[in-house]
Amino acid sequence: MEFSKEINVAIVGYGVVGNGVAKILEEEKELILKRSGIKINLKKVFTRNWNKKFPYPLPDEKKAYSLDEILDDKDIDIVVELVGGLDFPYKLIKECINRGKHIITANKHLLAEKGKEIFTLAEEKNIRIGFEGAVAGGIPIIKALRESLVGNRIEKIYGILNGTTNYILTEMYGKGKNFNEVLKEAQELGYAEADPTLDINGVDAGHKIAILASLSYGGFLNFSDVYIEGIEDIEKIDIQLGKELGYTLKLLAIAKGYKNNEVEVRVHPTFIPSEHPLAKVDGVFNAIMIKGNNVGESMFYGKGAGSLPTASAVVSDIVDIAKSISLGIGREIEITSMNWEHKDLNLKKVSDFYTRYYIRFMVPDTVGILSKIAGIFAEYNISIAAVIQKEKVVGLYNGANSSDFIPLVLLTHTASENSIQKAIEKVESSNLTKGKAKVIRVEDEEE
Ligand SMILES: NC(=O)c1ccc[n+]([C@@H]2O[C@H](COP(=O)([O-])OP(=O)(O)OC[C@H]3O[C@@H](n4cnc5c(N)ncnc54)[C@H](OP(=O)(O)O)[C@@H]3O)[C@@H](O)[C@H]2O)c1
Repeated sequence: MEFSKEINVAIVGYGVVGNGVAKILEEEKELILKRSGIKINLKKVFTRNWNKKFPYPLPDEKKAYSLDEILDDKDIDIVVELVGGLDFPYKLIKECINRGKHIITANKHLLAEKGKEIFTLAEEKNIRIGFEGAVAGGIPIIKALRESLVGNRIEKIYGILNGTTNYILTEMYGKGKNFNEVLKEAQELGYAEADPTLDINGVDAGHKIAILASLSYGGFLNFSDVYIEGIEDIEKIDIQLGKELGYTLKLLAIAKGYKNNEVEVRVHPTFIPSEHPLAKVDGVFNAIMIKGNNVGESMFYGKGAGSLPTASAVVSDIVDIAKSISLGIGREIEITSMNWEHKDLNLKKVSDFYTRYYIRFMVPDTVGILSKIAGIFAEYNISIAAVIQKEKVVGLYNGANSSDFIPLVLLTHTASENSIQKAIEKVESSNLTKGKAKVIRVEDEEE
């Protein structure tokens, strides 16, 4: 069946993703029409500077030289925001909503921080917001959560949501390289941006898991309270010692739901068993595990960024919304889908997290240290599952040619963050160790 109405689309921001969207809309027009019955017309594109070379050049009639050409055009049904950043897209999206234009954005930063305001306004004005491209690029995770898994309570979502950090950790694990060395290579290869701050400090993955948590648990959360730790302090010694214990280090983004709208949302370097499917997700790829009460665990794997993978997700939103417009559907469940519980979510405090821990102390090579440290952990009811004590570490630790201090690693059973921090504090204040302990959380089946 072919829908008679042609849907007019405009793009604002003509960069990596914008060019990909235009290319797919133009080159796959016939395919989209055959598969969906929808005629999509890319009417106008606005970007701030047309005087440069574009990977997908546009004919002059499609170029807009002011935003008003799009805002004032009543025939434009959908505006695709692909600028990035916060202030400009926030104003633009609000303006479009007020003028009755449906919105598609891949801007996770904006949705994680201003989602509540945007979705509330959209709901008031009966406007749809599509954001499949905002999380995990080409992986259709938003649609899976919203539609395919609608008959499930989501117990847990965890995954690798940032390709840059996954590339760095994969290289550190596989080739025994240092963080700084791999970051430089990643920048040269184009896998890391010139300013990779939001990737390596975990905030980008934080934005994405905040969106997935809202969608899964039906309410908004205060993004500044999400617990986020990046990979910038990861040393290769811990990757190697974790490997010996049977673990692979990944930057995991985790969300878990509890009763009374309480959710746990965290991003941090995490050891996972090396045979776990996520441990095998290498390089710039993304993967997400979702545990639903009825479906069990499902894994979604694919390209989490890039021009065409992200554009593929954006185009699916365009077709979806265009179909709704063509059918003349009014108020739809999707409008409120980020906030279907109509309540804000309460974030669990870090001190209340329960998980397993890898803790590395640097200790003098003398008899009896292990039993003293184990004794302190026992005082806090922390049970130890495994221990590694190395005689000598050459080239693995800063200043490691000296045999004065050796690494002592404790792998705990599930414990509360609160008791772990107290036990570490007591060990550190008892002069048994040198420097600060290295603490890395461990996710496995015990919890
Ligand atoms: N790249 C990816 O793989 C990817 C994946 C998932 C999600 N996303 C998200 O998609 C969005 C776009 O990312 P991108 O990689 O395509 O960014 P990009 O390559 O930097 O493109 C941004 C575009 O917006 C234009 N622009 C910036 N400020 C503007 C303004 N004030 N008015 C008009 N145009 C303006 C830029 O123009 P100039 O070129 O002149 O600066 C450029 O054409 C971001 O929210 C990003 O987080 C990207």
